[in-house]
Amino acid sequence: MPSELRPGQRVVLVAAVADNGVIGADGDIPWRIPEDFAHFKATTLGHTLVMGRATYDSIGRPLPGRATVVVTRDPAWTAGEYADQVRVAHSLDEALALAAELPGDVMVVGGAQIYALAMPLATHQVLTEVHRSPEGDTRYPAWDRDGWVETARDEREGWAITWWERAP
Ligand SMILES: NC(=O)c1ccc[n+]([C@@H]2O[C@H](COP(=O)([O-])OP(=O)(O)OC[C@H]3O[C@@H](n4cnc5c(N)ncnc54)[C@H](OP(=O)(O)O)[C@@H]3O)[C@@H](O)[C@H]2O)c1
Repeated sequence: MPSELRPGQRVVLVAAVADNGVIGADGDIPWRIPEDFAHFKATTLGHTLVMGRATYDSIGRPLPGRATVVVTRDPAWTAGEYADQVRVAHSLDEALALAAELPGDVMVVGGAQIYALAMPLATHQVLTEVHRSPEGDTRYPAWDRDGWVETARDEREGWAITWWERAP
C-alpha cells in the first residue's frame, strides 16, 4: 500500500477492455454497453475517482455521488465551472495523497496513461471484457496475469465483468 493512502483503502483499476486491448478511440470509448455503464456506476458510487485530464475532458463534468481527482501536468488547469467539485493533482502521488482524505476506495478510471501509472500500485482490477476488436488509438497497459487472481466473473452476451485481486 502506498504510504499516502489510509489503511485498508484499496486501489482499484476499473476499465472496459476490448479483446485487442483497445479502450479508446478519438477521445471516446468505441462502443456503447448501457449495462456496463450501470455496472461502472454501481462499482464506483461512494468512492473517489482518479482520472487523467483527457478522460475528464471526454466526460466533461464530475460524476455525481463520487469525488473526482484529475491528474494533469498543467499547473494552470482547472475544471472551470466545476472547479469547486474537482480536485487537481500534478502527479499520481499527489492524487493518492488527496484521495487519502476523500471517501471510499481509490477508483482509477483511466485512461491508458493513468492506468499505466497506477498499475504497479493497484490492489484490485474490475475489468469489463468486451468481446470485440474495434479500431482505436488507446490501449489498456500490459499486465502479468500470473501476478493476479481472478476472484469472480459475470458472463454476459458478448461481454463479461471480471474481478481480480493481486496474488498474495
Ligand atoms: N474503456 C475504458 O474503460 C476507458 C476508461 C477511461 C478512458 N478511456 C478512453 O481512454 C482515452 C483517454 O486515455 P489517454 O491515455 O489518452 O489519457 P488519460 O490517461 O485520460 O489522460 C492523459 C493526461 O493525463 C495527464 N498525465 C499523464 N501522465 C501524467 C503524469 N505522470 N503526471 C501528471 N499528469 C499526467 C496529462 O494531462 P495534461 O495533458 O493535462 O498534462 C495527460 O495528457 C479516451 O479515448 C477515453 O475515452 C477508456
